[in-house]
Amino acid sequence: MGRSAVAIAAGCAVVACVASAMMVGRRARRWRGWSRVVRVLEEFEESCATPVGRLRQVVDAMVVEMHAGLASEGGSKLKMLLTYVDTLPTGNEEGIYYALDLGGTNFRVLRVKLGGQPSAVIGCEIDEQPIPEQLMTSTSEELFDYIAATLKDFVDRENETSEPSRGGGRELGFTFSFPVKQTSLSSGTLIRWTKRFSIEDMVGRDVSQSLQQEMSLKGLNMRVSALINDTVGTLALGRYHDEDTVAAVIIGTGTNACYLERADAIIKCQGLFSNSGGMVVNMEWGNFWSSHLPRTKFDVDLDADSQNPNDQGFEKMISGMYLGDIVRRVMLQMSQESDVFGPASSKLHEPFILRTPLMAAMHEDDSPDLREVARILRDILEIPDVPLNVRKLVVKVCDVVTCRAARLVAAGIVGILKKIGRDGSGGITSAKMKPLRQDRIKRTVVAIEGGLYTNYTMFREYLNEAMEQILGEDITPHVIIKITEDGSGIGAALLAASRASSSAVGAL
Ligand code: BGC
Repeated sequence: MGRSAVAIAAGCAVVACVASAMMVGRRARRWRGWSRVVRVLEEFEESCATPVGRLRQVVDAMVVEMHAGLASEGGSKLKMLLTYVDTLPTGNEEGIYYALDLGGTNFRVLRVKLGGQPSAVIGCEIDEQPIPEQLMTSTSEELFDYIAATLKDFVDRENETSEPSRGGGRELGFTFSFPVKQTSLSSGTLIRWTKRFSIEDMVGRDVSQSLQQEMSLKGLNMRVSALINDTVGTLALGRYHDEDTVAAVIIGTGTNACYLERADAIIKCQGLFSNSGGMVVNMEWGNFWSSHLPRTKFDVDLDADSQNPNDQGFEKMISGMYLGDIVRRVMLQMSQESDVFGPASSKLHEPFILRTPLMAAMHEDDSPDLREVARILRDILEIPDVPLNVRKLVVKVCDVVTCRAARLVAAGIVGILKKIGRDGSGGITSAKMKPLRQDRIKRTVVAIEGGLYTNYTMFREYLNEAMEQILGEDITPHVIIKITEDGSGIGAALLAASRASSSAVGAL
């Protein structure tokens, strides 16, 4: 069975189970308000619907917003940020480079040894730790003190025989995965925080300078030679291994994409200097918005209760930080309209208690009696003794949320491909076009990183299935979505290396 067939079969199985559960429920009349719960589910499912026609509207809206964001500063909710990355790694980079990766749930320090042979990472040491929760809302001084201290520990623990990178000093690539207005490849100011971070005094300040200051205070002889977004690191690593890579997408705690754009298409920066005639653009697509997005009242409430209302609308429908919480909100409404979950559990009122990995575990529970679902409901949400048909109902809610998210990501990716003329449409996104000659269609690789795609099978299946539906069977085989693990870390080291060595640059 093909991947999409598996996804469809799984989806149908869930629907069938829930339908039979509903019948049982109607017959049993044991619970007060079962029919109201069914209605909540039906309405929710309907308002999350993403038929292919709607996805194509999202594709087109994405293209329109990309043009608007490139035309003028503030022209769109899509910021389309310049990265000053006009050359990407070629595979010839050589030496030892460091990288810091800040932006998701964990903070990582890396030391990467590049072999100089075509695309050989011959050594990579990684130190990874969860970011202490309180630092996400503390002061910039505390945050950068922590980062520099962790980096210093890492360097101090280095093997005596470690050679420094070319040129003697230590070159550092800093992946800072938030919207940054770059002023050069190695500097830029924070526009605003996203995800769980909110440190007011940092907004508007230069990110590299803040790190550089703390590093000097700690006596670290390192230079931030590249300040990048995680999407850009992923694109760099993708390109290092495969020269057909043209875009990168992250679907983790947050979501975003970047791609290679022609310099002359970046109208808002006429006369932009570029060695290669192109530049990587950080779209910040988490903030994309369109009236074609299927928004529910649960999304509206989640947004209103969030740290950043009216921002990151696309991200709030898609990324790992939010999916579990949408499920919790639907379950809360069900519990308020009926007693299917038994006596009200106060845990259902707790924001973010149902983390997305738990939601994925419920969604993918394939035990006949949905044991994992029962365990999570009991242990995390303090809802014990949930009957099987109610567990199936919960699985269905997870399915609806994940299916919508994955299909919207697919539409976003096709939007990028369409903007750069790689969706095979020649301007029209339709699977019904006259087929192009297969030998004229360029192979196109999109690098992807983030737990939702790499660890969550159902999410991946739904995304791939939607790509096929939108692109059609002629184009689909030419578009490769490639998992590019560690791109946000290794990619930063690669870009530091590209910067350090002018011989290591390649045209875009
Ligand atoms: C940030 C992006 C980042 C993405 C994935 C979003 O919240 O705004 O800069 O690339 O998360 O980490």
